[in-house]
Amino acid sequence: MAAAGALVPVLRAGPAANTGLIEVDLDAQQMWIEVGGTTGYLYGFNGQIPGPTIEARPGDHVRIRFTNSLPEPTNLHYHGLHVPPTGYADNSLLEIAAGESLTYEFDLPASHPGGTFWYHPHMHESVARQVSRGLAGVFIVRGELDQIPEIADAPEAVLVLQDFGVDSGGRPVEPGLMERMIGREGDLVTVNGQANPPFRIQKDGWIRMRIVNASSSRFYRLRLEEHPLYLIAVDGGALPAPEEHDEILLTPGERIEVMVRGARPEGSYRLLSLPYNRGGMGMMGGMGGAPSRTIVLATVVYEGQADRTWSLPKQLVGIDPLPAPSVRRSFQLGQGMGMGMMGGGGMTFTINGRSFSPNRIDTRVVLNSVEDWEFINPTMMDHPMHVHTNPFQVIGSDGLPIRAWKDVVLVRANSRIRVRTAFRDFTGTAMYHCHILDHEDLGMMGLLEIQG
Ligand code: C2O
Ligand code: CU
Ligand code: CU
Repeated sequence: MAAAGALVPVLRAGPAANTGLIEVDLDAQQMWIEVGGTTGYLYGFNGQIPGPTIEARPGDHVRIRFTNSLPEPTNLHYHGLHVPPTGYADNSLLEIAAGESLTYEFDLPASHPGGTFWYHPHMHESVARQVSRGLAGVFIVRGELDQIPEIADAPEAVLVLQDFGVDSGGRPVEPGLMERMIGREGDLVTVNGQANPPFRIQKDGWIRMRIVNASSSRFYRLRLEEHPLYLIAVDGGALPAPEEHDEILLTPGERIEVMVRGARPEGSYRLLSLPYNRGGMGMMGGMGGAPSRTIVLATVVYEGQADRTWSLPKQLVGIDPLPAPSVRRSFQLGQGMGMGMMGGGGMTFTINGRSFSPNRIDTRVVLNSVEDWEFINPTMMDHPMHVHTNPFQVIGSDGLPIRAWKDVVLVRANSRIRVRTAFRDFTGTAMYHCHILDHEDLGMMGLLEIQG
């Protein structure tokens, strides 16, 4: 986890210090910190934004000694990890009071896919506020992809995309209800806590970028000037083969890994986020619904010449399609008037007509089953839906599962999408929700009980 150069947070896969035990101290703190050239009174882990990158291997035992030094209750969720949702493992129903500590502990299964995962608080009704103040960190699992020489030989960079809303005095701005309904977006957009940081590439060389959307609502439509992006992994791990893209939409919670080749004339090339319209509150007279502006996220800077060059392999990591489902369910997303958060009437977000309750199991499934879940979105807003504990395969337009492990799927306004998932090992209570975190806080979340 060594950083090469102050401005270039490059991770190299170092020699395996394979003790099998990963121990990390994480302290969630409120602090004055500089992000993107602005000093703000924000939240971070261990005094930094984003938090430290944790790296582990399948089969490792992970122990995270967590301290809540925030002035409010919080907890941790390990987004995308296939570990138990119970006890002191990935249990998002735990609540850690201000000033309290808790040790999270779990085993990564020996069969856990390698990939780019992340951790963030999951305190219902406070998730958007806590994450948008900075609480997010990357959790890398090294796997098969990291053993493919053409991938492993490339320098590696992690890019955590965050946005912050602070006033001129650096105090976080809490959005009003309308902004929360659309999903808050901060004007200060950063990569690894910096505005437009440089990432170095050698002429004719490759870099591998792991990109995490840790923003509470902002979508990033990514394009690197004059460079195709070779997609090698999505949320839950490697693809069967690299895919060439001119641009990739990254919705909240999603991750990608892309390879970039230094194949253009030497110079500087901007990594952009292009405008995207994720819809708005149509029933409220067209609030929101404006495309976001173009933002320069980072700059790829050519420096030096690679002493050799190579092509990407045609094949990466094999993925078996899930078998036909035994159960089909549908989840209708909605927004409506309900009991507001502050007691009065207000807007809520719903799944199958109900707002989240921690005291109600919405969906019961049994182990050793395969299910198809259809998310139906009749609203005028996009909703990126996320499921804890078990990744899924999205069903393509041909009715067949796409060979990629995902844990967030974009359900566009006025559309529907089906995913397939298997419940094979862990029992317990997990959740599914919209990863526009204000929507989650306003009720677009359900509880899933996996029974033995
Ligand atoms: Cu990244 Cu339930 O969340
Ligand atoms: Cu999650
Ligand atoms: Cu949503």
